[in-house]
Amino acid sequence: MKKEKRIVRVGVVGGGAIAQRRHLPEYAANPNAEIAGIFDFNTDRMEELCEQYGAKPYASLEEMVSDPSIDAISVCTPNYTHAEATITALRAGKHALCEKPMALSLEETRRMLAAEKESGKILMLGHNQRLIKAHLKAHELIQDGAIGKLLFYQCNFKHAGPESWSIDRGSSTWFFRKDKANFGVMGDLGAHKIDLIRFLTDDEIKDVFATMMTLDKRYEDGSLIELEDNAVCQFHMHSGMPGIMHFSWTNYGDEDNSTIIYGDKGVMKIFGDYADDIVLEMRDGSHIKYSVGAISTNTNQLKSGVIDEFVAAILEGRKPIVTGIDGHNTLAVIEKAMQSAREGKWLDIEY
Ligand SMILES: NC(=O)c1ccc[n+]([C@@H]2O[C@H](COP(=O)([O-])OP(=O)(O)OC[C@H]3O[C@@H](n4cnc5c(N)ncnc54)[C@H](O)[C@@H]3O)[C@@H](O)[C@H]2O)c1
Repeated sequence: MKKEKRIVRVGVVGGGAIAQRRHLPEYAANPNAEIAGIFDFNTDRMEELCEQYGAKPYASLEEMVSDPSIDAISVCTPNYTHAEATITALRAGKHALCEKPMALSLEETRRMLAAEKESGKILMLGHNQRLIKAHLKAHELIQDGAIGKLLFYQCNFKHAGPESWSIDRGSSTWFFRKDKANFGVMGDLGAHKIDLIRFLTDDEIKDVFATMMTLDKRYEDGSLIELEDNAVCQFHMHSGMPGIMHFSWTNYGDEDNSTIIYGDKGVMKIFGDYADDIVLEMRDGSHIKYSVGAISTNTNQLKSGVIDEFVAAILEGRKPIVTGIDGHNTLAVIEKAMQSAREGKWLDIEY
């Protein structure tokens, strides 16, 4: 991949919550990036954002990617548009940063990977958990053997749901529509922890048994939504290590974004019961604490680092920390978890 020594000019497609809370402010704060253009089919929203960021509004994604002055595209639209938008960007010779989950199906992720290969450009995914300082530190500690041989993991990602996050608030949100999101909480929050555990353990998930339910999310007419608002998964890694994860959109208390790794020398709690980001509870009873940085919540957004990594990877001509393969392998687990919940049995993941 060629090293590029200049300002990266970016076009952002979709000017909703994730664009406004992370992509746009983080590009604006990056001295090596410039927001060249924005396309959102809500023209009022697009024009307001263009004015705020000194960017050019475009009439379509096709018009934006045909602008030779644009180097890269951030795909910040709902899930059902990810594959086509990313492929359009890559085929036009632009680097692409696609939000998670990567697509609606593995058929789509395979086409995205093929477009990445043909273009020779970077495809990065917005799986931001592995860029959080505490998770980078946890990875380092695990590699250094701080808690010994890994035995088991438990991940939670639970908040009050996307209808109070998304730019168009309320129960008519696309997050609750199968044709637009395809996955419920499993694709929304599951994507984050599945990618994280792959990163922390340097391993892939081998098989899954999942149960999913819709407990409380309703459309305006009072009927339960067609997607699942809770998912409980059991996994084995290829190493044989088992783990469990619970994802929920019905946690109306404090957001829970915790990860616990059990080792034969002690337990690592990341964003768990303690004020410190990481606490190692050692087998001899001692506690070792690390405070390297807090985690974002829906109500307290912190810099994700995703944009800085994308821009740096482009300028340095290297692979980003989260690749298209990471997005694809994560989606492979999500798809099988959905199938397992439907069929009520353990299933091997096919990558
Ligand atoms: N990385 C993270 O932590 C994280 C967090 C939240 C959302 N996301 C992901 O980001 C994506 C966007 O989510 P969001 O919360 O910003 O949604 P949102 O509903 O707040 O915003 C979506 C925006 O896209 C626009 N849009 C929809 N279809 C379009 C199209 N075809 N062309 C142009 N514009 C279009 C809408 O008008 C809206 O402004 C989703 O895939 C979501 O899963 C990632």
